Amino acid sequence: MVYLDNGATSFPKPQCVCDAVAEAMETCANPGRGSHEAARAGAEVLYNCREAAGQLFRCLPEQVVFTMNCTQGLNMALRTLVNSGTKVVISGFEHNAVTRTLYGLRAKVLVAGRNLFDQEDTLRSFYRALQQGARVAVFTHVSNVFGYILPIEEMAKACIRRGIPFVIDAAQSAGALPVDFRTLGADFIAMPGHKGLLGPMGTGILLCKRLPLPWIMGGTGSESARQKMPDFLPDRAEAGTMNVPGIAGLGAGIRYLLEKTPAAIAMQEQKMAAKAAWMLKDLGMEVFSGPHQLGTVSFRCGMDCETAAQILAEEDIAVRAGLHCAPLAHKSAGTLDSGTVRISFGHDASEEQLQELKRAVQTRLPPWG
Ligand code: ALA
Repeated sequence: MVYLDNGATSFPKPQCVCDAVAEAMETCANPGRGSHEAARAGAEVLYNCREAAGQLFRCLPEQVVFTMNCTQGLNMALRTLVNSGTKVVISGFEHNAVTRTLYGLRAKVLVAGRNLFDQEDTLRSFYRALQQGARVAVFTHVSNVFGYILPIEEMAKACIRRGIPFVIDAAQSAGALPVDFRTLGADFIAMPGHKGLLGPMGTGILLCKRLPLPWIMGGTGSESARQKMPDFLPDRAEAGTMNVPGIAGLGAGIRYLLEKTPAAIAMQEQKMAAKAAWMLKDLGMEVFSGPHQLGTVSFRCGMDCETAAQILAEEDIAVRAGLHCAPLAHKSAGTLDSGTVRISFGHDASEEQLQELKRAVQTRLPPWG
């Protein structure tokens, strides 16, 4: 299979990730719940992963809170900062993990910046929304549909200048682009463990500058006589038994990345995505590409996108079609009615993948228009 659906989850995982999961299954018991060897092995797995994440994102190990995915992290962050009626500015490329949560919290949402690949438009609109009285900001680093890289460093600085708390959704960037927690100064940065960080599905990380509202309450193995949740990290945000095998795999994925370097991975993804965009345009497809684009490209052809993805699957090419759980991004790009076919390269992006895609598109998909 030619796997071009890394925006959904990275696949296949490096062998070291699979080995670490298997080893944890065989050696680890419940961390923080005993002083025996197997419990200590479990605790070490968690700590080692926090430490590796701290190195990658420039934060303290205890600021690394484990979640089951990016959506859970975003929910924790937003529930901490947003109440009914809070004015929140978001970018025009947010995922349902942000928009549905804000809708559920009855926030007053200002959408800033709808123009794809136009960082100036994003910034101009964002500054305007801040002036209009936004009290909280949430923005994605990279659009999961179009691969558009938002100017998060400037957006972060603008929030800090005005004392506005903010959350970054690093779902599509963690593991590829620099995400420097200390310099960005975000209150929270949420990310999945199973995409660019190459860990197993069911893992995620929320980087916390401040204490979040506890997502669930219960045993933490600390301060057990108190009925209040601990007021220190990470215990406040991690009740119940942790996904130790998953976190063992996540730690191995992060260490693998630190060795390969995210910059090298991003460069290869970007190169293949740019080539794919040219190739698809050449074959008559309508392609969404531009500057500031990571390893993801959306396109439309002369048939509905779900059927096109089904045909590509028959050719053993894995892509994702439709709205990608991001109707706002599609609305911004003018593709809400049709959706798009999305190809997303990963850490193993290669020329061979591109050639296989070209063969399948050329022989099976009709051109756009
Ligand atoms: N949000 C993920 C995607 O873009 C699942 O496919």
